[in-house]
Amino acid sequence: MYSEQFFDSLRYLETRRLILRRMTLRDAPDMFEYSRDPLVARHVLWDAHRSIGQTRSYIRSVLHNYRAGKPASLAIEYKSEGKVIGTIGFMWYDEDSRSSEVGYSLSRQYWNQGLMTEALAKLIEYGFTQLRLNRIEAQHETGNPSSGRVMRKVGMLHEGTLRQRLYNKGRFVDMELYALLRQDYSQARRTETEATQC
Ligand SMILES: CC(C)(COP(=O)(O)OP(=O)(O)OC[C@H]1O[C@@H](n2cnc3c(N)ncnc32)[C@H](O)[C@@H]1OP(=O)(O)O)[C@@H](O)C(=O)NCCC(=O)NCCS
Repeated sequence: MYSEQFFDSLRYLETRRLILRRMTLRDAPDMFEYSRDPLVARHVLWDAHRSIGQTRSYIRSVLHNYRAGKPASLAIEYKSEGKVIGTIGFMWYDEDSRSSEVGYSLSRQYWNQGLMTEALAKLIEYGFTQLRLNRIEAQHETGNPSSGRVMRKVGMLHEGTLRQRLYNKGRFVDMELYALLRQDYSQARRTETEATQC
């Protein structure tokens, strides 16, 4: 459960190379370009898009969630090209435990340049400082180690393997569960500040 409009404030974030912002139907051509790639869709729960109409339907469902104040993905815009190259966002929120889960995808052309790490670090900062979350989770298929590397680079801790947790694209898949707690995040920030003051 979540309070209505809880995610309403999450509209625009900026990092050195990226803008994380609400998507619009005008982003459909950019998003279709990578969402049609079977390698991008291989380890996520959606299938590669077969038409731009599917991309538009996805964007409409996200716009609906924005209007309802529900958790929903943001577009990742690559500043230097003014182009949407992926999505990132909170997938669900549990008010009682103040916990949420993040999910993300990126166009294959932009992999391995540290971009998703940059985006995820910013979203996590927002989650702890603005949304006052206590726990942020992420999961990836065991066969998708680069996603686990992103989680570790932002300081998330591996909590375990969920055996055959999901059925995805014709097979049962193991999932790796990661999380970061508010207390770990605050401690890491304090250590960083002390290091810069020395
Ligand atoms: C997973 C994904 C988001 C990573 O984004 P990215 O911008 O390439 O991530 P980064 O560049 O920040 O980091 C990737 C890291 O994985 C490492 N990596 C790449 N391939 C790897 C592999 N086969 N095994 C282990 N590590 C690997 C990279 O070397 C890099 O680590 P480094 O910085 O220590 O060198 C991107 O590949 C993607 O969108 N994939 C398709 C959708 C998807 O799988 N989403 C996640 C679902 S859980």
